[in-house]
Amino acid sequence: MILITGGAGFIGSNFLLDWLALCDESVVNLDLLTYAGNLANLSSLENDPRHIFVRGDIGDIKLVPELLNKYKPRAVVNFAAESHVDRSIHGPEDFVQTNVVGTCHLLESVRAYWGALGEDAKSSFRFLHVSTDEVYGSLGQDGPAFTEENRYQPNSPYSASKAASDHLVRAYHHTYGLPVLTTNCSNNYGPHHFPEKLIPLMIVNAQAGKPLPVYGDGQQIRDWLYVKDHCSAIRRVLEAGKLGEVYNVGGWNEKPNIEIVQRVCALLDEMNPRADGKSYLEQVTYVTDRPGHDRRYAIDAVKIERELGWKPTETFETGIRKTVVWYLEHQDWVNNVLSGSYRDWLEKNYVERVE
Ligand code: NAD
Ligand code: TYD
Repeated sequence: MILITGGAGFIGSNFLLDWLALCDESVVNLDLLTYAGNLANLSSLENDPRHIFVRGDIGDIKLVPELLNKYKPRAVVNFAAESHVDRSIHGPEDFVQTNVVGTCHLLESVRAYWGALGEDAKSSFRFLHVSTDEVYGSLGQDGPAFTEENRYQPNSPYSASKAASDHLVRAYHHTYGLPVLTTNCSNNYGPHHFPEKLIPLMIVNAQAGKPLPVYGDGQQIRDWLYVKDHCSAIRRVLEAGKLGEVYNVGGWNEKPNIEIVQRVCALLDEMNPRADGKSYLEQVTYVTDRPGHDRRYAIDAVKIERELGWKPTETFETGIRKTVVWYLEHQDWVNNVLSGSYRDWLEKNYVERVE
């Protein structure tokens, strides 16, 4: 069995569902169910004995050792984090608490558990830390994509806290020999993506007849990867990654934000046209930029392809179409997520942004 953290969130839930669809190895899912954790993501596993859900904090130094000793996982995959850059700008401390202190506590709990394992279990054990390309900072318009050799230059409280957690993971390998692996992935999109992030926010706002808020000039570039491809990369690294190594994961798909918004609008125009016959593009509104907004991220995913034979299977075209279809077919999920506390966040983040 394996233990994952943050399995009720966007990427963790996709990982868990894919894992159990592909094999019979059970999964303990430790998730605090913050605003971003949603058990509705896992409703299809309700009666599945292979999924053991535990509500709790990765930083809980009593609970985590108990779980490890009870379930004896052969691997831990750490998805749990505060993950939204804009929230980190409004309140960095939660990010330090979960992403830095929480990861440190988790590493301590795992180190104690791993240290007490028998020789075989000890050598086959893995701790895989799921991280982001944002730790590398921002690229110029024409600079080469991030490789694993790039310097860490995080610019937001979110990326700084993830960078700190990556360093701790690295240090636990070098200092204590903990068998760790780290993945640094580009922007994901797909089912279960919380509508505070660009793509789901645009889909949900468009349908609700609301403005589509594009920060600054909309020319910031991200490298987008369909979430299920990220999950397959994590499985591959867990299976065959070299201990202590870092693997960049990306979709070879750099696009300016405005093009993403235009593509989402075009798909919605095709699949669910506005009643007045006009395009959803009419709802695009340029708003005040994010402070310290990183201009460009791009991932060089050559290492994971060369060493582990991993490549994404979706193109942006196939992935974004699936994503829009998923949101149109899961209006109940969207309504459930659009709860009171989420509406408070929208007020806080967008009310002060001028058009
Ligand atoms: P998410 O915000 O959708 O989900 C995070 C999950 O972690 C939620 O279920 C939440 O309840 C849980 N959680 C938060 N704090 C916790 C704590 N202290 N203890 C236990 N559980 C806690 O995030 P996501 O987009 O699914 O991202 C998952 C991981 O992947 C993060 O580490 C993120 O940094 C990384 N990542 C995300 C992206 C992306 O585009 N979303 C890209 C690269 C890397
Ligand atoms: P986001 O989905 O928050 O991911 P990240 O900041 O981790 O890359 O944002 C993706 C890009 O979209 C980023 O450049 C900011 C921009 N953006 C907007 O233009 N408008 C929005 O309302 C949001 C949420 C993001």
